[in-house]
This record gives sequence, structure tokens and C-alpha cells, in this order.
Amino acid sequence: MLSKVKSCSLYGINGYLVDVEVDLSEGLPGFDLVGLPDSSVREAKDRVRAAIKNSQLLFPVKRITINLAPADTKKEGSAFDLPIAVGIVSCNLSISPEKLEKTMIVGELSLDGSVKPVNGILPMVYSAYKNGLEQCIVPFENAEEGAIVEGIKVIGVHNLMEALEYLLGTKSIPETTVNIQTLMQQSSNSKLDFSDVKGQAHVKRALEISAAGSHNLLMIGPPGSGKTMMAKRLPTILPDLTFEESIEITKIYSVSGLLPDKKSLITNRPFRSPHHTVSTSALVGGGRIPRPGEVSLSHYGVLFLDELPEFNKNVLEVLRQPLEDREVTISRVNATLTYPASFMLVCSMNPCPCGYYGDEEKCHCQSETIKKYLAKISGPLLDRLDIHVEVSPVKYKDLNTKEKSESSASIKKRVLKAQKIQQERYKNENIYFNAQLGAAQIEKYCILRKEERELLRTAFEKLNLSARAYHRILKVARTIADLDEKENIELQHLSEAIQYRSLDRKYWA
Ligand SMILES: Nc1ncnc2c1ncn2[C@@H]1O[C@H](COP(=O)(O)OP(=O)(O)O)[C@@H](O)[C@H]1O
Ligand SMILES: [Mg+2]
Ligand SMILES: [Zn+2]
Repeated sequence: MLSKVKSCSLYGINGYLVDVEVDLSEGLPGFDLVGLPDSSVREAKDRVRAAIKNSQLLFPVKRITINLAPADTKKEGSAFDLPIAVGIVSCNLSISPEKLEKTMIVGELSLDGSVKPVNGILPMVYSAYKNGLEQCIVPFENAEEGAIVEGIKVIGVHNLMEALEYLLGTKSIPETTVNIQTLMQQSSNSKLDFSDVKGQAHVKRALEISAAGSHNLLMIGPPGSGKTMMAKRLPTILPDLTFEESIEITKIYSVSGLLPDKKSLITNRPFRSPHHTVSTSALVGGGRIPRPGEVSLSHYGVLFLDELPEFNKNVLEVLRQPLEDREVTISRVNATLTYPASFMLVCSMNPCPCGYYGDEEKCHCQSETIKKYLAKISGPLLDRLDIHVEVSPVKYKDLNTKEKSESSASIKKRVLKAQKIQQERYKNENIYFNAQLGAAQIEKYCILRKEERELLRTAFEKLNLSARAYHRILKVARTIADLDEKENIELQHLSEAIQYRSLDRKYWA
């Protein structure tokens, strides 16, 4: 006797349908699982057997063969437990094959028959919808996440028995629905706000420019000057996520098993701050079964590397590809996976090993040690940091004030306006932000008049700027002009941009 149940597996952040074929035949009782299951799927056999028995159902004394088709892709995870169990018992029950044909079933089983949540429900339900199925039976805890997909019925079940009764039609379970508008409005319950940051006006200004033009940024300053505090507030001045962006981020978190409890949709821009001991594969993704790394978990948000020189140079090297391509490609044995990775990079560092460079009482660092310290940051990475901003210790008079600083909402308004100008200007260019301008586009959109050209020339000679500074300065100047709602880059825009090249000035050397 053969029965067929539809289930789903994951490839990167996308789902693909899997047929769970169950054959029961006479002969020596046994239980075989074929179709490239990995060890996590093979363990399903024991869970399924116990779950069926503990649901007071008969486990057939037959020769059982399960095939997971297509057989040429490696299946992993525990989501096949429920469809396998349904397939085995449906041979004895009269569940209509037509119904099974239109139903995707996923879920992990406990030994007692209860259904436990699994990763990746959103992409799985989406692929069921794409393939024209009518409904999905998913773990109750995952039902809201699945219900975000419109146009397909999502049924949340607590245990195997419930799934069977629903399929037999002896129990009705209402489909799970979510109100997407309400979910989207739940965003930004984050309590962080720029109004908490006292003083530091020029650093906030640099962050505003960085947000407006999507420029990667480096903060240089002593410990306790508020670098981490300010970086964490950068997402609060970026535009709200669109629904499509939320879905894309949620897929990444869903397949990683990192969706926060009780959250079916991620509606805030991510802020990720991996420790400096992070491994290459944790940063860009990888492992035996490749998982998204920090660069993908930062998608549409901010990746913050605190204490940049502490990071392993090799680890920083691997950031180049995602920074360039806005996605990351991971090779595995017989395929390559691509995960999205479009993030803003923010880094912080001390100006010298002790952290207090410039404070003659505290800092006794030798210029040789400082040079070595700075050399730890790889040139190519430095190349991708458009804005360097120096952060000084907070002044006592700034801390000791009751005056509230400008709120994130108010800064965000200017950021939005500047982004709109860019999107309009680049609508035929396949880019969105000034930070993405290539060399030819810089010539087209960052035209300098005579006076400005003169200023740039002088700056180069006087400040001993490196060649790589040239394009960075023009792009940042373009953003400053956009914030100022000016058609042309003017002297004040250019001279402000020149200030954001601290590390190019090499004055530490
Ligand atoms: N400008 C500031 N306004 C208000 N509080 C500040 C400011 N700068 C620093 N602080 C306080 O000092 C703490 C340490 O700052 P932090 O951001 O960790 O510094 P850094 O990362 O530069 O070492 C913050 O949590 C905050 O309480
Ligand atoms: Mg810090
Ligand atoms: Zn020092």
C-alpha cells in the first residue's frame, strides 16, 4: 500500500516541496528511510514510532519504506516527522489522497506525539503557495509566521492526533490569520533614541550623513565616549522597512531559527554586533549545512564591528565580497547557496592601544606601537569606509544638562528627504545611494566647479590625503549636498566631507 504526503525542505532561504512516499508491504517488519536524508532526518524513525504508539494509534507491523523525493537533494532537519507519521497511519485510516495531494505538512514530533516548532516556516509556506497547494498543516507555534503568506490556508496543530482528525474531517480547526498592517505597525518599539545622546553633535551629524547616503562609517575615540551607544541608534534614523524588506529579513531569521519568541515578522532593521572573536563562517555564513552569517542577519540593517583592530585580519578580508555584491555566496559540496547581505557597516576603534591618544597624562603609547595597531586594519576594508569620524570624550557640561538632544524621528525626516532625492536621481542607474556610485557615475553626478576643484587640490596637498580618499570625499560631499537640498556640490559640502578622512591624513604616523 502506498501513500503520499507533501512536505517541504529548505535550500538557503527558499523552500522546495518534498514528496514523502510511504510504502507498507508484507514481509519482515522494518523501517527504511531513503532519498538522501541526513542523520537528523534518520532519527525521525524513532520519534515517529514512539509518537504514533503514544497517540494510542497502531504502529503497523509491516515492512515500511519511506522515500523522500526528489531523491537527489540532501534533506536535513526534523520537519519531516509529522508528514512521515501521517503517511504511515493514513494507510490504515481513510484520509483522502486528493486532500493529501493539496496539503503541505511539516512539524517535528515529540515522543508523546506533540508537535514542536521548526525553522523556516515562512519560506516553506511560501513555496507551498507558489506550487498551487491549498493548505499547510504546521506546528501551532509557527502558524502565525506561516499565515503571513497570503492566498493559502495555514492550520496550526498541537499534536499528531489533531493533524489526523483535521485531515479526516472529524475536527475543524480555524485557519490562522494575521493582520499584516498591525504587524508592520508594531515596529520600532525599540526604546533607543538619539535624544539620549548628550553633546557629540558632530558625531551625530556624521551618522546622519552616513544614514542618508548609506555610507559605511568608522568611529575613532577613547573608551566611554559613547561610540557603541551611538552606533546602536543608527537604525532609528533609517527609513521604516517595507513589507517586502520585512519578509526578506524574516526568511533569513526563520531558516536560522532566530525569530524572536512570539514574533512572526521582523519589522525593525537589524543591528548586529558580533564579538571580535567571531569566526569566518559565523560572520559570512557557512558550516556543514550552510547557515546565514552575521552579514546576512544584518540584511537591511547595521553590522557593527566594535573594536575593529581586535578582529582577525582574515575575518575582515571575507567582508569584502558581501560589501561589494550585497549578497554572499557560500559553496558547499555539490551546490552554491546565496544569502542576501545588504547592510551598512559601522566600525569603532580606539585611536591607540591604550585608547587615550591625545591625552598627555594618560597615553604613553609609542608612535611605533600606534602604527602597528593601525596597520591591523586591512587596507581594502578601510577602503570601504567612506566616513571616519573622531569621537572625543563627552564634555562634563554636555552631560550635566537637562536639555534633550534632537530626537531620532526628527533626524530621520532629513535622512528620508535626502534618500528620496537620490532615488529620483539614480532611477535609471540601478543604484539607490550615493555610496554605490562607481567611478564613471561619480564623474557624472559629482561635478565640481572651479573653486571646489581648487579646494580639493589644496586639501590633497596639505593633508597628505591618499588617492583612495578622492572618490570617498566626492561621494560623501554629494550626500551632504543632498541633505542640504542643493543641486551642486558647494564649498561647504566639500570641506565638510574632507574632514571625514582622519585615517587618510596619517597624522598619527
Ligand atoms: N554622549 C553621551 N550622552 C549620554 N551618555 C553617554 C554619552 N557617552 C557615553 N555615555 C554613557 O557612557 C556609557 C558608555 O558608552 P559607550 O557607548 O559604551 O562608549 P564606547 O563604546 O565609546 O566605549 C554609555 O552606556 C552611556 O551611558
Ligand atoms: Mg564600545
Ligand atoms: Zn595610547
